[in-house]
Amino acid sequence: MTKIGFFDSGIGGLFIMDTVAKEVPGPSYYYISDEAFFPYGSKTEKQIIERSNFLTEVLLKEGIRHIVVACNTATAVAIDLLREKYPQVNFIGVEPYINIINKEEDKAHEIAVLVTPSTATSSRFLKLKKRLDPKDLVDVVPLENLAALAEEIFYKGESPTLVKKVEEELSSIKGHYHHVILGCTHYLHIEKMISDILGAICISPATAIANRVKDKVGNIPKGQTDKYRFLSTSKNIWEDKSFLN
Ligand code: DGL
Repeated sequence: MTKIGFFDSGIGGLFIMDTVAKEVPGPSYYYISDEAFFPYGSKTEKQIIERSNFLTEVLLKEGIRHIVVACNTATAVAIDLLREKYPQVNFIGVEPYINIINKEEDKAHEIAVLVTPSTATSSRFLKLKKRLDPKDLVDVVPLENLAALAEEIFYKGESPTLVKKVEEELSSIKGHYHHVILGCTHYLHIEKMISDILGAICISPATAIANRVKDKVGNIPKGQTDKYRFLSTSKNIWEDKSFLN
């Protein structure tokens, strides 16, 4: 039985898992929402590394050898160390899809990458940015509260009050960019809202990640059926439930 694990600080990675599961049907999917330590965006590198190790151990106990670090912040801070510490695991990270820029045609300050504060200062992200955007065309916009607002909207639903808070969070960049790269998996949940407020097209990494998982996991033996398990660290129990259609 092929098993693929995912973890994130909350529900953000579910949108990556949804795309992966559509592209790679068959395996059992395990998802950990580390709600007890949400948000990662304001945590220290040490805390994020400790949580990433702990969540990897939980998934290892389930016999999982393919793990999608479905969080830009944890990927930026911890994935290199995870690969060193657990060489038996095939880790797939999630990083802002800066690859989208067209170095010949795009001008400076027309595209932004939206990230958490921890991602913005991590050395892995800064290296990635330098490699993919050597001319520094893309602006980096760290957002303090957007992941928490997306989490709240997921659980409570969209309300005028929450939409207003998202508008306030994005007010300083409204109308500034024609494309914004979603550099936090939580933002995928409110992609349309972000796009409408900013008047920009959102770039998600989900399809690229799904293709990478497909390549790395290889052929799934026939006869397997999808199964979804969800663990919230606040409840500390695995629940068998499907978030997917
Ligand atoms: N979903 C996470 C990310 O992709 C982190 C959000 C947070 O916990 O701050 O960066």
